[in-house]
Amino acid sequence: MPNIKVHTFFIALFSLVYFSVKTFVEPQRQIVFYVSTFGFLSLLSIIFVISIPVLVKMKNTKFTTFLMVERRWIGIYTFFLALTHMLLVYNFFFGWDINKLLNHPNKVFLFLGSLALVILALLAITSNNYSVKKLGKNWKKLHALIYLALLLVLIHSFRIGLIYLKLDWVKILIIALLALMLYLKFIKFRKVYKK
Ligand code: HEM
Repeated sequence: MPNIKVHTFFIALFSLVYFSVKTFVEPQRQIVFYVSTFGFLSLLSIIFVISIPVLVKMKNTKFTTFLMVERRWIGIYTFFLALTHMLLVYNFFFGWDINKLLNHPNKVFLFLGSLALVILALLAITSNNYSVKKLGKNWKKLHALIYLALLLVLIHSFRIGLIYLKLDWVKILIIALLALMLYLKFIKFRKVYKK
């Protein structure tokens, strides 16, 4: 099975989050740690997926080629990380009561996160050869929506983050990482992409 490594990696990641939070975080803070960690990993994974073509251009190795081939699956797992984050929020923060969400002081930022999740869902559903064939040129346009999803997630998480993105140095690190990636993608390697 060609994708076994990617599946194993993400199953290990989900398990690692589950056991580390259970082991190292005091019980009354575990839920918020689960929510934040899955949200944070999803954000990192979005940035990583966008960066894969840049990594290939920088260094064409067996590993970067592998990442390029498995990019679709990495994208699908990025969606599952975000879905887990959202399901935990709905279950533990709002008890599946939509009114609690609609009356929440951060409802605008929660809405932006929800919109990003819808985009990731669309991208995950169309990450297969059948959709590439069926959508033709529009497939690329549709998948460019990842940049919009990233922007929405950044606004969402920078405003309401309770753990990782509450820290200024983490925000600065994320912005620096993004700036570097966008510079490499759209300035340094622009000619390569235009070909
Ligand atoms: C693509 C979808 C999403 C991504 C990638 C995402 C990512 C994030 C990130 C990175 C944080 C900050 C974590 C931290 O540093 O503490 C966060 C916070 C939060 N998100 Fe999302 N989010 C998404 C969608 C949603 C949705 C649909 C909801 C629920 C309607 C939601 C509810 C929350 C809440 C309540 C917080 C504050 C608690 C916390 O910090 O974890 N998110 N999200």
